[in-house]
Amino acid sequence: MSTSDTSKIPNSLQEHWMPFTSNKDFKENPRLITEAKGVYLKNHHGKTMIDASSGLFCNPLGHGRKEITNAVAKQLEQLDYVQPFQQGFGGSFELARRISKHTPGNLNRIFFTICGSTAVETAIKIVIAYHKAKGQGQRFRFVGRERAYHGMNIGATSVGGMVNNVKTFASVLMPGVVHMRHTHLKDHKFVKGQPTTGAEMAEDLERICANFGSENIAACIVEPIAGSTGALVPPKGYLKRLREICDKHGIVLIFDEVITGWGRTGSAFASQEFGVTPDVMTMAKATTNGVVPMGAVAVKEEIYDAVMDASPKGAVELFHGYTYSAIPVSVAAALAVQDIFEKEDIFKKVKEMSPYFLDGIFSLKDISGVDNIRGYGMLAGIDMKLKEKPGRAGFECFKACYEAGVNFKATGDCLIIAPQFICEKKHIDEIIEKLRTGISNYMKK
Ligand SMILES: Cc1ncc(COP(=O)(O)O)c(C=O)c1O
Repeated sequence: MSTSDTSKIPNSLQEHWMPFTSNKDFKENPRLITEAKGVYLKNHHGKTMIDASSGLFCNPLGHGRKEITNAVAKQLEQLDYVQPFQQGFGGSFELARRISKHTPGNLNRIFFTICGSTAVETAIKIVIAYHKAKGQGQRFRFVGRERAYHGMNIGATSVGGMVNNVKTFASVLMPGVVHMRHTHLKDHKFVKGQPTTGAEMAEDLERICANFGSENIAACIVEPIAGSTGALVPPKGYLKRLREICDKHGIVLIFDEVITGWGRTGSAFASQEFGVTPDVMTMAKATTNGVVPMGAVAVKEEIYDAVMDASPKGAVELFHGYTYSAIPVSVAAALAVQDIFEKEDIFKKVKEMSPYFLDGIFSLKDISGVDNIRGYGMLAGIDMKLKEKPGRAGFECFKACYEAGVNFKATGDCLIIAPQFICEKKHIDEIIEKLRTGISNYMKK
């Protein structure tokens, strides 16, 4: 393979240590993607597959969008890089304005990061800076939730709640983090949309306040729908109750909308869909349709003002930032994405297609290996029954589905399905049909 054509079979697979991958398994039987167009991917055997997870939930507008490619190419030719510290360029300000048109409440101050993990890390630091600015520096504890995924930096890993991500790194995680229980309850089997039971799980936050002292708690962070552990939809009233408890104790409420942000639920953000406004919100993934990295943190104006007011004029107010915070190439992609959202009325499209998608997904209930299905908007989780020890079913089933021509993300024993927003009914039908074939083949093995 020449260096100018990286889409073909590589000369060696050994040097690249792949992330979140069974490297040994992959290198014995690689799955290389060589092309992506619209809702389809092509692999190195020349086989076409439908993309049923929008990449890693990040390409909902489809692959190969000319508008985004052109905007990125034009930007690189005109201005390829600007120092983001004590300097800037107009694009990032325009993007912040466009984003703030969609954020809930007055979360109108936007801090740009590189990805979802750095957005969460930034949110954690902003919260600490805010409490310090308000004279409440004793608030150091963060409350996360079991089965949460917030990314892979130390702060994001600490507030996350997936056991395998934590075990090896326990010695270096942030101190003072406490976890609420998850809301994945036994009576939530095959519930489409929001479960009507389980809102009382939010009382875990109240218990934590009582046990650890609410005056020490800086923030509570949750994904409105826990995405990476299988689309755990919040029980009705659960998020509202978290909001009330946070208000009562002066705790900042952070919604991590890295997956749910930008339309996945049928509203711009899950916050609006579920009618609960956090104080701080993270986003990434679909912000650029996944083609270049970018994350962002939206904060309430009061939080921004408090941090600004705590510093003398001329001083740096927040000692935090990244070399690649809102670099021109990411901004150009994100602005093009904003144009597409508006021009194609994307969030409305999701709202209209969601019932069809969810009906299709729930039609898989009759397959013997399917243990549970959940879903909201264009996001669904399918739990597989265990054939061997826990944690294997998702990956093994994923491989069978890949063979059947449908690609998605699996975690543990769960398949996570998140089609692109540009899907037409025929694409949804294709996803469902190929899932049926793949899951059935897995069961026969
Ligand atoms: C809710 C949530 N937060 C944070 C992240 C981390 O994002 P990234 O992989 O861009 O760092 C993810 C990634 O899937 C996520 O789902």
